[in-house]
Amino acid sequence: MSTTDSSPWWRGAVIYQVYPRSFADDNGDGVGDIAGIRSRLDHLSALGVDAIWFSPWYPSPMADAGYDVSDYRDIDPVFGTLREAEELIGEAHAKGLRVIIDLVPNHCSDAHPWFQAALASPDAPERELFWFRPGRGPDGAGKPTDWVSPLNGDTWTRTTNPDGTPGEWYLHLFAPQQPDFNWDHPRVRAEFEDILRFWLDRGVDGIRIDSAAMLAKDPTLPEMSPDGPNPFVDLDAVHDIYRSWRRITDSYPGERALIGEVWLPDQQRFANYLRPDELHAAFNFDFLGCAWDPAALRACIDATLAAHAPIGAPATWVLSNHDVTRHVTRYGREDTTFSFAAKREGVPSDLELGTRRARAAALLSLSLPGAAYVYQGEELGLWEVEDIPHELRQDPMYHRSGGVDPGRDGCRVPIPWSGETPPFGFSPDGATSAPWLPQPADWKDRTVRAQTGDERSMLELYREAIRIRRAEPGLGDGTMTWLPAPNGVLAYRRSPAFTCLVNLSTGPVPLPPHAERLLASGPLEDDLLPPDTAVWLRTAGPAGPETA
Ligand code: GLC
Repeated sequence: MSTTDSSPWWRGAVIYQVYPRSFADDNGDGVGDIAGIRSRLDHLSALGVDAIWFSPWYPSPMADAGYDVSDYRDIDPVFGTLREAEELIGEAHAKGLRVIIDLVPNHCSDAHPWFQAALASPDAPERELFWFRPGRGPDGAGKPTDWVSPLNGDTWTRTTNPDGTPGEWYLHLFAPQQPDFNWDHPRVRAEFEDILRFWLDRGVDGIRIDSAAMLAKDPTLPEMSPDGPNPFVDLDAVHDIYRSWRRITDSYPGERALIGEVWLPDQQRFANYLRPDELHAAFNFDFLGCAWDPAALRACIDATLAAHAPIGAPATWVLSNHDVTRHVTRYGREDTTFSFAAKREGVPSDLELGTRRARAAALLSLSLPGAAYVYQGEELGLWEVEDIPHELRQDPMYHRSGGVDPGRDGCRVPIPWSGETPPFGFSPDGATSAPWLPQPADWKDRTVRAQTGDERSMLELYREAIRIRRAEPGLGDGTMTWLPAPNGVLAYRRSPAFTCLVNLSTGPVPLPPHAERLLASGPLEDDLLPPDTAVWLRTAGPAGPETA
């Protein structure tokens, strides 16, 4: 990373998200595993990233691909063992890679022992650890509220009493297999503080906090209303939880970081999570969802920096993750924004255009001030897989919407490593099972092997960009200055010697004279920067492109 020695790693790191089910399968069962990750760590070293974030790997019935956790202190057998996870953490550290794990505190799995105990009897004390409520109406058949789930569908499920009669309802903001914890209960707080310590004791450098803004609920359970506050998103009470977590991470040696998954439209409310005694960083979903449009991107960057500056927190730059349409596909569409509400498949996408823009976006996100996230496969230029047959789809988001919402399987397809045909080295030769989601035959050109050494490839672009980022003192954490630029061009300086230009206009623009070209996202035309292309320049002094 290119932060100064005194700057903590998480302020300017490049963080690579591994989705364990889809990264590398060592035992040939068609699902990725820890042994597979260990065998592929060299890919991450060669890429040059600073840290790896592992999506959940805990024991889980996999109703939501592992975001339904039944034991927070172990590893699911499909991925391996706790011992292997500990060894992986050690091996990553030996290669200079930090490790971030994913913690899911809003809900657990319905197979979690606490929830099983709660179901066993209406009088079980464990009911207090969740949100059990009687139903509405004389026979209790009406759900307690009409809250709608981010995973589509209902948020309440009725239980059956041990004697077979219909019982109370329980709250699950996500799938029915994901009961929400009652964070007002001290046992829940104590349990998660202990889980945090469990993993910090094992040397993890950071914790990614799932659904971080949703833990606290309004206990009166009011209906959602367009005018009133949301009863389960961003309640003030949630901040006290993170203050206590921060005290725990601060008590450990090394720079342990808390990174929140905070989806909030209000930048000020978002920034509250990053106050100096709360989380260290949070994902910038505004940037992820932003249109490929110069004014929109500039406004987003300005708003991000303005929200982070007063509290001294580093910004983050995120283009994709395991929940959203891959950005090669998004950027090739007429509407380049992302939102869950508007997510659809079969919308035409020009993948060549999307790829060109994704390359430019890589140079943009890797040169803005703060930390940058890379979702596995984005460095290979993978696109969203939109033709997964219905019977192979796994995501509850798809099934709970009756297939109206395409869900998230399309960005979770296993990584192509080598070879001409599936499984493209994801599973070993002679594997007994096909990859858990089918890979497109066209990915033969996108494998790590096919791209290695091809200087026009997405992979070599990412490798080179991250190499330069590490070497350039002005990149990573720090500040930026906008430069005057022609319409439709983003131009900014990160240090007197480093400038980035991104051409989002429809025609070529002149490059500044006398600047050394460090890296371009696509071919340059003599002294012109073509549309949808970015370039990193070393300038001798304060020099930018001329204003049009
Ligand atoms: C987060 C995860 C997502 C999961 C949800 C419920 O948004 O990123 O994958 O489905 O939380 O845990």
